[in-house]
Amino acid sequence: MDSRRIAVVTGASSGIGLVAAVALARAGFEVFATYRKEADSERLAGLAAREHLALRPLRLDLADAASIAAAVAEVDAEVGARGVFALVNNAGVPCSGPVETLALDTLREVLEVNVVAQVAVTQAFMPLLRRANAHTPGARVITVTSISGQIAAPFAGAYAASKHALEALTGSLRHELRPFGMWASAVAPGVFQSALWQKGEAVARQARADLGPAGEAHYGEAFARYLGRFARNEAKAPPPDPVARAIVKAACAGRPKRRYLVGADARAGVIARALLPEPVFGWILRRTTGRR
Ligand SMILES: NC(=O)c1ccc[n+]([C@@H]2O[C@H](COP(=O)([O-])OP(=O)(O)OC[C@H]3O[C@@H](n4cnc5c(N)ncnc54)[C@H](OP(=O)(O)O)[C@@H]3O)[C@@H](O)[C@H]2O)c1
Repeated sequence: MDSRRIAVVTGASSGIGLVAAVALARAGFEVFATYRKEADSERLAGLAAREHLALRPLRLDLADAASIAAAVAEVDAEVGARGVFALVNNAGVPCSGPVETLALDTLREVLEVNVVAQVAVTQAFMPLLRRANAHTPGARVITVTSISGQIAAPFAGAYAASKHALEALTGSLRHELRPFGMWASAVAPGVFQSALWQKGEAVARQARADLGPAGEAHYGEAFARYLGRFARNEAKAPPPDPVARAIVKAACAGRPKRRYLVGADARAGVIARALLPEPVFGWILRRTTGRR
């Protein structure tokens, strides 16, 4: 039997998921890298062949229960008794807009993908995680949250709500799994280069268009400044390799941490929030996000 441990990384078509899948394969895992579009499957297979990586594309659409079940069945058939040692819940979508004008369907959609589907994927893979844990104790669920899982900036309410929820679910899951010798950790990045910023900008532009006359009067100017942030973030964001390294650490550590905070901006935000009085921290947060 192949002795390599198995990892499944969701949302591996681009950004953090892609570099994490490659880093895990380089660290000795056999990796199932999930994608939605056929073109991404070919790209992932090509990358694996070129770089001689144990990385296999796996189709998985978080929004589709049948797709999750089919992905689990495919992994089950491939890995047999080895099971899955590490599930990396990475896939996610951006969302922005003032809470006052946020379309409720938009809120439902982001919570569905970023929260409910993450639980669905975790539940579906749990039998395979338990199977791995039976012969290699320490099987684990690693969830990519965000600094938005700890700090809710203006105009990021829906996204921050989803990431706060993921942090809470990870905390509970960790306590629930410990008696079995299993782990749950969050990897919480600050701002890093990825396709998320272009997608986020498109979503934010739509949210601006949806403000309506009253919303435009109340929030238009500040939201325009917030939108400017996307271009700046995209331009200055570092490549996501440190996030991939944190995911590998969380996957390999004997006692993985509850949370891996990644990026100077994320660390500075958490420290500032802990040390500064709330009104001062709130003032800085508003200044830096366009909501003066
Ligand atoms: N980049 C940052 O600065 C940053 C900061 C904090 C947290 N994060 C978090 O990091 C994670 C990865 O994001 P990223 O920055 O690497 O962005 P990304 O490049 O846009 O990657 C997101 C991935 O999620 C996949 N995905 C989205 N909806 C899906 C669905 N319904 N079913 C299956 N897959 C789906 C995307 O697939 P498609 O290509 O098919 O859309 C893509 O592979 C997200 O959870 C994000 O919230 C990112």
